[in-house]
Amino acid sequence: MILMNDIVRDGHPSLRKRTEEMTFPLSEEDLTLANDLQEYVINSQEDELIEKYKIRPGIGIAAPQVNANKRMFALHLEDENNEEVSFVAVNPKIISHSVEKTYISAGEGCLSVDEVIEGYVPRHARITATGFYPDGTSFKKRLKGLAAIAFQHELDHLNGIMFYDHINKDNPYEPIPNSIAYDRA
Ligand code: NI
Repeated sequence: MILMNDIVRDGHPSLRKRTEEMTFPLSEEDLTLANDLQEYVINSQEDELIEKYKIRPGIGIAAPQVNANKRMFALHLEDENNEEVSFVAVNPKIISHSVEKTYISAGEGCLSVDEVIEGYVPRHARITATGFYPDGTSFKKRLKGLAAIAFQHELDHLNGIMFYDHINKDNPYEPIPNSIAYDRA
């Protein structure tokens, strides 16, 4: 299983590479990686396991964060309708998005960034995303709110982009035009 020592931190070159498209069927090794990523985000939301394994809570993790140059990530979260959004995305894409933006009012965090970096990270409020599950079946999803934000954060990882790259350096809390704030409970 993935533990904190397996997660590469800010400054590691793996976090700045663009990953290449994966081909199907995935290898056994890649299927195992998909399971491990999914397992991490699920376990990291269980108080007992956080304590037991000394892991940091996360709602998403991307392959480059465990030093794997693979175009996949896992998400596990509850959306605003209390519905579980939990899947591994392979070769994910955003095919359309709202003009309206959103941002987490408390800022974003990342398992690869140990310190708090303050500021608003502008994201599309709603996206339509496509991709594949590890078994090779395709998906098309409409996401909004936290699920849309997390999807964009993880997709960025596959392109070597960190969340703080989006923060206005001169004025981290400059209002984001045409946006709706997302307040995480
Ligand atoms: Ni991250």
